[in-house]
Amino acid sequence: MTAVEDPRPEVAGGTDGPDSSVTFALTVDGTAHEVTARWDESLLTVLRDRLGVRGPKTGCAHGRCGACAVKADLGDGGHVLCSCLVPAATAAGGTVETIASIGGPDGALSDVQEAFLAEGAVQCGICTSGFVTAATELLDTNPDPTRTEIEAALYGNLCRCTGYGRIVAAVETAARTRRGDA
Ligand code: FES
Ligand code: FES
Repeated sequence: MTAVEDPRPEVAGGTDGPDSSVTFALTVDGTAHEVTARWDESLLTVLRDRLGVRGPKTGCAHGRCGACAVKADLGDGGHVLCSCLVPAATAAGGTVETIASIGGPDGALSDVQEAFLAEGAVQCGICTSGFVTAATELLDTNPDPTRTEIEAALYGNLCRCTGYGRIVAAVETAARTRRGDA
């Protein structure tokens, strides 16, 4: 068998015990950080507890609710993922965009966020950054999604408050706004 070189950047530290820590570079919402974390810590924990980035929410912590969704480029081109499932050291050298990267730099809401407000698709809000992140990714790649495509794109996101009708309606509204059909 031919040895395959690991393309990931060097990670300082060891993984030979439960208390071992690793130190690595991570760019979050355009800001470069050097992070030291336990080797088995999740990217979600690094974002929230070590870097104070509170947009991604802790829901199930098991990849089942989507509250922790972020867009991340971990050397694979970038896509939306559940940050609770990513071991922190796997993100070494990576780039993460949270909900803070979706709105304008002056705090202005994005078109998707505006649509969520207009359609009443937000109640307690714990799911909202995950839904907006997934919906934004959908509309960035498919500006005219069918209802079925919207439901499929949001399949990994759970909401206990609103029912899903208003959320789907919000994505449809945002899509119409982007296309100039509103
Ligand atoms: S907190 Fe990550 S999927 Fe629920
Ligand atoms: S608004 Fe509360 S879980 Fe969705």
